[in-house]
Amino acid sequence: MTDKTKKVAIITGGGSGLGLYTALKLADAGVNITIVDISEAAGAAAVQQLEAKGVKALFVQADVSQPQDVKHYVDQTVSTFGTIDMFFNNAGISGPGTRFADNTIEQIEQVVGINLLGGLYGLKYVLEVMLQNGGGSIVNTSSTAGLVGQATVGSYSATKHGIIGITKTIAVEYAAEGINVNAIAPGTTETPMVKQYRQDNPETFQAVEAAIPQRRLGQPEEIAALVAFLLSDEAKYINGVVVPIDGGFTAQ
Ligand SMILES: NC(=O)c1ccc[n+]([C@@H]2O[C@H](COP(=O)([O-])OP(=O)(O)OC[C@H]3O[C@@H](n4cnc5c(N)ncnc54)[C@H](O)[C@@H]3O)[C@@H](O)[C@H]2O)c1
Repeated sequence: MTDKTKKVAIITGGGSGLGLYTALKLADAGVNITIVDISEAAGAAAVQQLEAKGVKALFVQADVSQPQDVKHYVDQTVSTFGTIDMFFNNAGISGPGTRFADNTIEQIEQVVGINLLGGLYGLKYVLEVMLQNGGGSIVNTSSTAGLVGQATVGSYSATKHGIIGITKTIAVEYAAEGINVNAIAPGTTETPMVKQYRQDNPETFQAVEAAIPQRRLGQPEEIAALVAFLLSDEAKYINGVVVPIDGGFTAQ
């Protein structure tokens, strides 16, 4: 039997970083969660942490760039929990970190496949369920690179601009049917991966921090708090916006 008093969230890329921190934050509010990730180890570890907080958690391994995997995680969530109230459409990769002409076609296709097509497929299948069930709330992960140009992340930047385009479109198309959708645009955030990179490249990071008006990186807890708010009923009238969370970086 599904528990209809509990909200249900799907979080892609939920095994690590921003997805995992958001899952833990939503679990504190009693939300049951499907963790979607390509990494089985990360997904299983996330489920353990969520269950320890007393909520129900399901892991579905998926490569979000594959439409059949995306349909599968949506179907599995509905058959396990009965509905989808919240969708954090977040899985992404950063790409090779070279100037654009130095990318291979395969590198371009990989970043677009995961970050943009993966996000679009997720929206298509989740929207079908939300429309049937009377609504829901969605947050898409863009980036400061979805708002301004940043050297060496061309394909990534294109996908993150695209995520903002689909966010605004869906906001307009489905607002009257109980669905609100917004995007977040984080600056560089101190996830475990970034922390390691910072330890290995302290000088690069001094320059990154110096370019941020608040002179520090974002913390994953800060992003999770924003996403949890945007997915909550309190934020239901916020629709189609992009919220930068970047210490003032894109205000310059
Ligand atoms: N950390 C930052 O500084 C930052 C800044 C702006 C935007 N973002 C965006 O936030 C999102 C999350 O990034 P993060 O920093 O938490 O990264 P992360 O690497 O810690 O987490 C991403 C998760 O996505 C999973 N994943 C990767 N490819 C996948 C695929 N094809 N299918 C399913 N899962 C896949 C990974 O296994 C990982 O668990 C991304 O979209 C990223 O572009 C991050």
